[in-house]
Amino acid sequence: LAKHSEPAFAQRGELTVTYLTAAHRACAQQIAQVMRHECGFDEVTIDAVGNVVGLYHGQDRRAPRLLTGSHYDTVRNGGKYDGRLGIFVPMACVRELARQGKRLPFGIEVIGFSEEEGQRYKAVFLGSGALTGEFDRQWLDLVDAEGISMRQAMRDAGLNIDEIAALRRNPADYLGFVEVHIEQGPVLTELDLPLGVVTSINGSVRFVGEVVGMASHAGTTPMGMRRDAATAVAALALYLEARAASVPDLVGTMGMLEVPSGSINVVHGRCRFSLDIRATTDAVRDACVADVKAELKAICEGRGLQFNLEEIMRASAAPSDPKWQALWETSVQALGLPVYRMPSGAGHDAMKLHNIMPQAMLFVRGLNSGISHNPLEMTTSDDADLAVQAFRGLLDQLTEQHGPRH
Ligand code: HGY
Ligand code: MN
Ligand code: MN
Repeated sequence: LAKHSEPAFAQRGELTVTYLTAAHRACAQQIAQVMRHECGFDEVTIDAVGNVVGLYHGQDRRAPRLLTGSHYDTVRNGGKYDGRLGIFVPMACVRELARQGKRLPFGIEVIGFSEEEGQRYKAVFLGSGALTGEFDRQWLDLVDAEGISMRQAMRDAGLNIDEIAALRRNPADYLGFVEVHIEQGPVLTELDLPLGVVTSINGSVRFVGEVVGMASHAGTTPMGMRRDAATAVAALALYLEARAASVPDLVGTMGMLEVPSGSINVVHGRCRFSLDIRATTDAVRDACVADVKAELKAICEGRGLQFNLEEIMRASAAPSDPKWQALWETSVQALGLPVYRMPSGAGHDAMKLHNIMPQAMLFVRGLNSGISHNPLEMTTSDDADLAVQAFRGLLDQLTEQHGPRH
């Protein structure tokens, strides 16, 4: 699947698949192809927001289904396991069932979510958000860096935006949602454990902002008379770093920081930046957000600068459903592995589905200290196979729970 990448990145050997680009569409087609022809799904469709939806029916088609999956979009110059492992693990399980001609007392719906990272448009969890009824129609008017609106991109991709509302799922049709994902951190590697059971997904909030000062001559403008936008943002970045480091289980990142059309001999007139703040609880996250906003205001007032800050995403911490977490724990135990419980610092589609049904995640060890959002992202096939076995263990338990005698 990683052979599909956007040309500007592909030429550098980098993997970038953002929403509704040609590479993105090619990925959707390929996943659908594999679902249909290699895994034996009964129905495979690409829905109105680009999610790839594979359905493997149960013994009774009306029975509630197990919902699972993850995302196939990537960050810029990302890794090939983020999200995608969580699509292929359940597909491998369905392939096994289909080969055995086996039907379970429930259906399995595997989703390749089309947009989770929020790279091309300021719309995060777009794919899973459509299933929970949280697709924001204002997103349709968002434009990307080339000025292409999401509405236009969807039209060009042959998607029918009038069908988006109908994607909302009725929780009564589902048993629950599970997601397998690479850990994206060093913990499991440090502990030499292949699998981890997620206890909760940290709450996160994202902003994009801009500080506006006055571009002026680098030679003639005295230091004390400058209205330098970039040094203000730099001051904020250092404040964010110190503030986030001062509290456990809190992280703050300024992932984007740019001076539009900067010049070597010009004091910065404008500086754009992003903020990504996360914590195990929404309260800790929000306290940090409040302090950062106050600091930005103080920095700008102190330097005679203007600023704007736009919140583009807010997702609450999502504790795993105890019953579903226990299913993963039992599965991991049955493989003879110790059960290691851990929170997720990264956000996932599961925290969206959390809003309408019980969910729990399973983490898979990442090599290279679990690095992610980086081409060095790596998981072994042995660990991926253990995730498949754990998933089959979960299916066995659900079969036990929902089987005929009940
Ligand atoms: O940002 C995240 O947490 C995830 O990778 N989307
Ligand atoms: Mn990611
Ligand atoms: Mn991911």
